[in-house]
Amino acid sequence: ESEEHTTFVVLGASGDLAKKKTYPALFSLFCEGRLPRNFTIVGYARSDLSFDDFWERLSPGLAKVSAFFGNRSARHRGMSHICLSPDTFRERCSYFRGQYGSPDDAARLDKLLQKEHEAKFARANRMYYLALPPSLFADAVRALKPLAWSQKGWNRVVIEKPFGHDLPSSDKLASELMAVLEEKETYRIDHYLGKEMVLDLIPLRFGNVAFTPIWSNHYIDSLRITFKENIGTEGRGGYFDKVGIIRDVMQNHLLQMLTLVAMERPASLLDEDIRDEKVKVLKQIGPIKTEHVVLGQYTRSEDGKTPGYKDDPGVPADSQCPTFATLVMFINNERWAGVPFIMKAGKALEERMAEVRIQLKDVPGGLFGELARNELVIKVQPNESVYLKIYGKQPGLSNEVVQTELDLSLHDRFDIDRLPDAYERLSLDCLNGDKRNFVRTDELREAWRIFTPMLHTIDGLAGGDATPVTVHTYPFGSRGPPDSDALVQHFGYKQTTGY
Ligand code: BG6
Repeated sequence: ESEEHTTFVVLGASGDLAKKKTYPALFSLFCEGRLPRNFTIVGYARSDLSFDDFWERLSPGLAKVSAFFGNRSARHRGMSHICLSPDTFRERCSYFRGQYGSPDDAARLDKLLQKEHEAKFARANRMYYLALPPSLFADAVRALKPLAWSQKGWNRVVIEKPFGHDLPSSDKLASELMAVLEEKETYRIDHYLGKEMVLDLIPLRFGNVAFTPIWSNHYIDSLRITFKENIGTEGRGGYFDKVGIIRDVMQNHLLQMLTLVAMERPASLLDEDIRDEKVKVLKQIGPIKTEHVVLGQYTRSEDGKTPGYKDDPGVPADSQCPTFATLVMFINNERWAGVPFIMKAGKALEERMAEVRIQLKDVPGGLFGELARNELVIKVQPNESVYLKIYGKQPGLSNEVVQTELDLSLHDRFDIDRLPDAYERLSLDCLNGDKRNFVRTDELREAWRIFTPMLHTIDGLAGGDATPVTVHTYPFGSRGPPDSDALVQHFGYKQTTGY
């Protein structure tokens, strides 16, 4: 291993994503001892910054990580080999000023990497992390590939959404990018794929024969995938208004969860086998019908204290952008025919939460009268857990039947003091060349195919006699518009008690 060097080049290093996610993730991996022995991180951006200025911007994000690892080492005394201070990490970092897409700058970068970092190593790898707006992806790679590709090791490129805003724009972006980049070099991030409970879906489904027989329309009545945030757009309104909640989290994060819940067993755990199955199930989902969609936009909170969406400075006064949506889709195969897959997502709701909730059918026969349905819940956040809502006898002399849970809460059951951030996990996967948790080009295409007709209707682009979809309002901090509950109930979901 000492013969090998790895460079991380973070393009867009002075931006928000790099500051909040990329650098803290790399620093956490460093603290965990997971980065290669010989590595350097080059922050690449256009701004004229000294290294000290640059470092100053990163410091708050890194301080949070070191606070955690500092405490941990006090508890686990044997871990003194772990480097806890951002200073030891800092020695491996540098700042490079350059334009994206400039051949001169790419050549200059290459020279620097070869001379300063890689010269004494037999092998040299480069991971390019594009923390950039997607409109710059293709240009950036077009300059880097011929001029700044390592000739003595692997080259990988990490990119992040938004990958277009509908099928045609996504196809265009993909074809520009894939004209310069090979699929095997491309690591398209959907950070939900790096979350612990999302990673647990494959082991849960295919490592437990207990779930095999119930996992179909024979026993499952409906599925609900929910994403809620208890904050609004918080000054990101200018960006958000062009995107809306469906493109922001449903077409990507929620659909990824759905895919993992619904796909067939892959031939192996290898990345291409898993991604083949994901594409297969996506192909069996028809475009979402507009009559299966409820939209909402938040207004000021009921007490008048928290501003509404249109109070966000970047948002136009007549915005029809949805900050909330509930929609229903169906999978046309033998396993899932007739089962509604309900997705619900919103900003400015009553809590922060993400989960998959699988509701089973009613117990036939009525031996105990009417019982609420069994539900298998995969709680992605907070309090990562899997639980099955079941009935049992009230302990003691009573003969009452009560609802309770078989509950696997990760923090209670396992000896863990932290779960890694999704970006940390995915950066490590990329470093290991493991593409299981990255989105392949054909997968992205299918995702847009499912959502595009409905999005075009909402945006008023559909033409013909398509009727625009009403955007209901809901107060900040509420459960969203009541029409959403009506849609969910229409598709047979029955409210249960408890959590
Ligand atoms: C991002 C969206 O992809 O995911 C944000 O752009 C959203 O609007 C975020 O807040 C949610 O991620 P997490 O990890 O906080 O649930």
